[in-house]
Amino acid sequence: MNALAPHPALEPVTLAGAKLANRLAVAPMTRVSAREDGTPTEAMARYYSAFASGGFGLVITEGTYTDTQYSQGYFFQPGIVSAAHVRAWRPVAEGVHAGGARAVMQLMHAGALSQGNRFRSDTVGPSAVPPKGQMMPEYGGSGPWPTPRAMSADDIETAVQGFVAAAVNAREAGFDGVEVHAANGYLLDQFLTDYTNLRTDSYGGPVSHRIRLTSQVVERIRARIPDEDFWVGVRLSQTKVNDFHHRWAGAEEAAVVFTTLAEAGADYLHIASEGRDWIDTARLDNGDTITAVAKKATGLPVIANGGMHNLDQAARLLEEGHADVLSLGRGALANPDLPNRVAGGDRLEEFDHAMLQPRASLDNAEQWRRLDTSA
Ligand SMILES: Cc1cc2nc3c(=O)[nH]c(=O)nc-3n(C[C@H](O)[C@H](O)[C@H](O)COP(=O)(O)O)c2cc1C
Repeated sequence: MNALAPHPALEPVTLAGAKLANRLAVAPMTRVSAREDGTPTEAMARYYSAFASGGFGLVITEGTYTDTQYSQGYFFQPGIVSAAHVRAWRPVAEGVHAGGARAVMQLMHAGALSQGNRFRSDTVGPSAVPPKGQMMPEYGGSGPWPTPRAMSADDIETAVQGFVAAAVNAREAGFDGVEVHAANGYLLDQFLTDYTNLRTDSYGGPVSHRIRLTSQVVERIRARIPDEDFWVGVRLSQTKVNDFHHRWAGAEEAAVVFTTLAEAGADYLHIASEGRDWIDTARLDNGDTITAVAKKATGLPVIANGGMHNLDQAARLLEEGHADVLSLGRGALANPDLPNRVAGGDRLEEFDHAMLQPRASLDNAEQWRRLDTSA
């Protein structure tokens, strides 16, 4: 990177017909800081608007639950299922817009990786396969995940309807779009993943079947909200919060996933790299990067993720055409004003994991103590 030239991430870009001030997005990050009933708080509105005033062109919210059945993943996770949720999300979208950024809400169904759901005490997934690993203490869990119940056709329809209703609510709350969370090991990724999806119906078997639920979610949202200026993005990943080693079969399988979602009406693809740097998960068996395969196979805008606070890597990715937009998680937490710092040539703060300890919440743990005393 030429130290004198402006960083390429600062250039504006058009994402699905709308202009972003630059190519820097805040990655979705669960902060378990809503009220117990899933209503976002004023502190959350301040937290999100700080990224916009810090120069990010796009702010993607944390994974937000979509129904009053099995979608909630953690206690204090925000929801988008009630009129009160819609009202309380409005200032979040407005604050982000006031700072000059676009706002996208990530819609999430936790499936088998739910570790806190006030509506249900059991979990569901594509098949009754115990999840790998252990629940995550920073989101209030401990011990092994329970084995989920295999979803029936009715369960699947309920989950799809939840995503559609949640997208309608997100639009009502003033968001510019939604991002369907099909990454990191949660419900839609459980369907995509061969070892958690042992179904023998039309949702199991070859990858074209395993991606079906995600593509149906996208199609059904698009059918309900045909407006072209409301984005429906999809987030995908090879790795998972409970399995950093998983990789897809290769470039051919990746192309099937991406083209199916493009045909379903996705406006952008966001490729996450949970627990790993982009370069660790990017190279597929044919030598191409997963983000470049997504771009080539679909022509859609692609957001790349994983260690983009390494500004040299970030520049290289854009210059070599691997992606159009870069999303930052830890780098944004450490530097809510990262784009302004990059523009000004200022030093970046290093991410310190203590920010998320003992809980990943905005107040670190205060609200969990309230829950303990009310229990
Ligand atoms: C505290 C925290 C919460 C996260 N929650 C989510 C989430 O709700 N949805 C999601 O798709 N990814 C989530 N992630 C993953 C990030 O979006 C991102 O993929 C990961 O941090 C790697 O990017 P980075 O190297 O820029 O941090 C979370 C990450 C962190 C650090």
